[in-house]
Amino acid sequence: MVEWTDFERATIQDIFSKMNYEEVGPAALARCLVVYPWTQRYFGNFGNLYNAAAIAMNPLVAKHGVTILRGLDRGMQNMDNMKETYSDLSVLHSEKLHVDPDNFRLLSDCLTIVLAAKMGNAFTGDVQAAFQKFLSVVVSSLGRQYH
Ligand code: HEM
Repeated sequence: MVEWTDFERATIQDIFSKMNYEEVGPAALARCLVVYPWTQRYFGNFGNLYNAAAIAMNPLVAKHGVTILRGLDRGMQNMDNMKETYSDLSVLHSEKLHVDPDNFRLLSDCLTIVLAAKMGNAFTGDVQAAFQKFLSVVVSSLGRQYH
């Protein structure tokens, strides 16, 4: 089981309590779709992803960005039970959606970039390390079904 320090727990709770899911989630997913265009192939039913402007305005991208953050919220609330928390989503992404698990980290990095830009000076090295660790545990839990 992953060990968390008090600082890491408090930092993760704090980040999620202040984060605007409706803003950060869509921005992170849109960035991922623009920077790593092959990720668009999984969202063929989302309509117009023709260019960055279309992606930014696409209501299905926005909606799904919020869904992803709600998915991460579940991990934040279950930090001592991450593998179990993500077992269904791991099955879904591997067996049904066939998402290449490398993409989990790419999306995580886009989220980190969006969050860092929003937090400004509050995004210190220690905060970055705690958030990175949280996302790494999520990514490894989501990837468990693939092993
Ligand atoms: C669906 C979470 C990464 C592709 C979902 C759902 C959640 C979720 C909560 C909805 C599941 C449901 O309806 O029961 C996450 C989290 C990620 C992640 C927390 C963190 C890294 C990715 C990546 C891709 C992806 C990197 C592809 C590049 C999809 C697709 C769906 C989906 C295609 C179905 C969308 C739809 O048609 O509504 N994900 N996901 N996910 N995810 Fe992910």
